[in-house]
Amino acid sequence: ASRAEIGGNARVAWESLREEAAGCTRCHLYKHATQTVFGEGRVSARLMLVGEQPGDQEDLAGKPFVGPAGQVLDQALAEAGVDRATAYVTNAVKHFKFEQRGKRRIHSKPDGGEIDACRWWIDQERMLIRPPVTVALGATAARSLLHKVVTISGTRGRPLKLEDGGECWVTIHPSYLLRLQDKADKEREYAQFVEDLRRANERVA
Ligand code: URA
Repeated sequence: ASRAEIGGNARVAWESLREEAAGCTRCHLYKHATQTVFGEGRVSARLMLVGEQPGDQEDLAGKPFVGPAGQVLDQALAEAGVDRATAYVTNAVKHFKFEQRGKRRIHSKPDGGEIDACRWWIDQERMLIRPPVTVALGATAARSLLHKVVTISGTRGRPLKLEDGGECWVTIHPSYLLRLQDKADKEREYAQFVEDLRRANERVA
């Protein structure tokens, strides 16, 4: 089979996986979310970016990282010299988990059971894409990928081996930057985030 055929078959397999995920009831989160937000990008991607879970805007759009955190991510990727279009972007948990407060839906963190239930999907995505390098954006993504609770500070800055042979770089979640109030903190943390992305991407090239 030619490379194009193999790539085409992987795309077809990915599309049927996404369709299957649209009906996922592996945990209770599907009950209140608008839709499953599956990963997005090339099946030939060599870099996989993993977030926590879709936010309010992602839940409505059905696409990962299109809201405020996505804008920070896009800017940081551009500064790090990473073309988002060549990466595969997904989340550890594929339904939006929130608390309703009046008209607003406030993000709430997925727990271990939800992360474990949803790992089935990310494992399937990884089997199809087989990315040599993966960036875990935040502690939830790191927990999903590494199968254990870790801290960012304890895992950041070096490649970690994943069960499937790929390597994982842990960094902060972009929404952390949105929560920082102090301008100097924000600038320092943002620069470190860009540097983490740049170093991970270097491993792909
Ligand atoms: N935060 C995430 O972790 N993922 C998204 O897709 C959006 C916001």
